[in-house]
Amino acid sequence: MSTETKETSGIVDSRKAPKTRWYKDAVIYQIYPRSFCDSNGDGIGDIRGIISKLDYLKELGVNCVWLSPCYKSPNADNGYDISNYRDIMDEFGTLDDWQEMLDGMHARGIRLVMDLVVNHTSDEHEWFIQSRSSVDNPYRDYYIWRKGRGKNGKKPPNNWTSRFTGSAWQYDETTKEFYLHLFHKKQPDLNWDNPKVRQEVVDICNYWFEKGVDGFRCDVITYISKEEGLPNGKFNPALMGDEHFVIGPHYHEYIHEINEKSWSLYDSMTVGEGQGITVKNAHEVVSEDRGELDCVFTFEHQTEVDSFLTTVPKKFSLRKWKEVFSNWQTLPDDCWNSLYIENHDYPRSLPRYGKLAYRKKVAKMLAISIQFLKGTPYVYQGQEIGMTNYENLTRKEYRDIVSIRIYDTVKKICPLFLPVVKWAMGKKARDHARAPMQWSAEKYAGFSTHEPWMPVNPNYTEINVADALADKDSIFYFYQKVIALRKGNEIIRNGSYKLYYPDDKKIWVYERAYNGKKYLIIASYTDKAAKFVVPDEWKNQNGTLLISNYDDSASKLSNLTLRPYEAIVYEV
Ligand code: GLC
Ligand code: CA
Repeated sequence: MSTETKETSGIVDSRKAPKTRWYKDAVIYQIYPRSFCDSNGDGIGDIRGIISKLDYLKELGVNCVWLSPCYKSPNADNGYDISNYRDIMDEFGTLDDWQEMLDGMHARGIRLVMDLVVNHTSDEHEWFIQSRSSVDNPYRDYYIWRKGRGKNGKKPPNNWTSRFTGSAWQYDETTKEFYLHLFHKKQPDLNWDNPKVRQEVVDICNYWFEKGVDGFRCDVITYISKEEGLPNGKFNPALMGDEHFVIGPHYHEYIHEINEKSWSLYDSMTVGEGQGITVKNAHEVVSEDRGELDCVFTFEHQTEVDSFLTTVPKKFSLRKWKEVFSNWQTLPDDCWNSLYIENHDYPRSLPRYGKLAYRKKVAKMLAISIQFLKGTPYVYQGQEIGMTNYENLTRKEYRDIVSIRIYDTVKKICPLFLPVVKWAMGKKARDHARAPMQWSAEKYAGFSTHEPWMPVNPNYTEINVADALADKDSIFYFYQKVIALRKGNEIIRNGSYKLYYPDDKKIWVYERAYNGKKYLIIASYTDKAAKFVVPDEWKNQNGTLLISNYDDSASKLSNLTLRPYEAIVYEV
């Protein structure tokens, strides 16, 4: 496609370098395909379901989609265990369907970022089937095999733990050795020290680039390089071994290699899942001149609020939350931020950050808080209509491998704790974000005509897309407005960031400024009245209202008593 058509039609095509860094102007919508839309009535979301909703995405105004894995997989971890990187999961459709989806996206000016899960494969991948068959199979070194310890060699080679609980090693009868799996035993870790493995990754990326994808979200990418000798980890009750593989010894070298042989040859974006990346070391991972990743997802705002695998949720601290976001806003100019509060691994932001009684206000307040920051914002499916946690799931209804493991382990080894664990899972399980998308008040929320693979949240009769589209005041239209506001907006894209009142426990107030223009963003995180005093720098400046989540917020900047979850942006 010539550059001319590219520019005039809004059609996108990334099959050429140099990189334009288009992601800096993107708002990315994450689709978890299993739960998005079912087109053929088997209860499982699929690619033709996505195709049927492309106009919906266009209407929302997003210009990129991150699609969670849709490759062939036995679904131990819903597609994060890939058995064939070059084909589509049976339940989701065919490569032709996929191509039609991509073309449909591109024709609407929407790019596609695919999930790249290459720290591990499925144990059903051909490489692993070969690898486990004998010690001298050519694929043996594609994975990490070690002899066991102890007299009979039945003790795991070291004390590392799986991020999904238990030992990170699985004994395999055929060759009487253990293989490493930092996640489930059906997700054996690839051996990135083997140059053939790295070449496979390059080939996979280029295969999809040639088909037209625009980039990759790189799953647990900071785990790929393990320290030589695989030493024992220092004691840690939850995750043992981290210090020996999170941004391990060859991490930078390996990522640079993939970038050089693939990512940099296309007008692409890569966003890495950034376990272990902090504001301090982010520069070494994402600065433009390193030729590694373009940006990363930080976990700090998630773990400061409540962490992924620990069982008891922490209390939300607005002070901490502001501090973390504010720190990330100070990344050097040659680095770029990713802005997200929801994805398929976390519970919904409702009711995590605000009371359900104010659902619409809270969702809109969060939209303002996050979308006015510098970086690329993500909207996770359902966030744009304020979908909430499904708190009353029973053991039989949980589908996530992690939820099930935690529940069953606790039941087995300390049943007394089960009520606490049930309560905590009601707040924190990954399942909350994976319940089917609520399209309408029809049976099964319009997601499917068949009983879905996991139950629909019963609140679908009140919270659904059809109602949101019929209500001018809906969260959907608010997102639409905010997304439109970001387009071509240099203050949001490039402006400086300044935090006011860091210690205030009720409100987040920050400023964005660029070329003499500025915004003051004020967001209340409480259902109580909250006092806001105009900062000195903003006195006598005639700030006028740009956007707010109440329809009668003060039109001029002044000292205020904010109402529950009120959020206002003033501009000068
Ligand atoms: C990432 C994914 C998560 C998956 C894990 C293992 O954290 O986001 O869903 O379970 O990697 O692939
Ligand atoms: Ca289906």
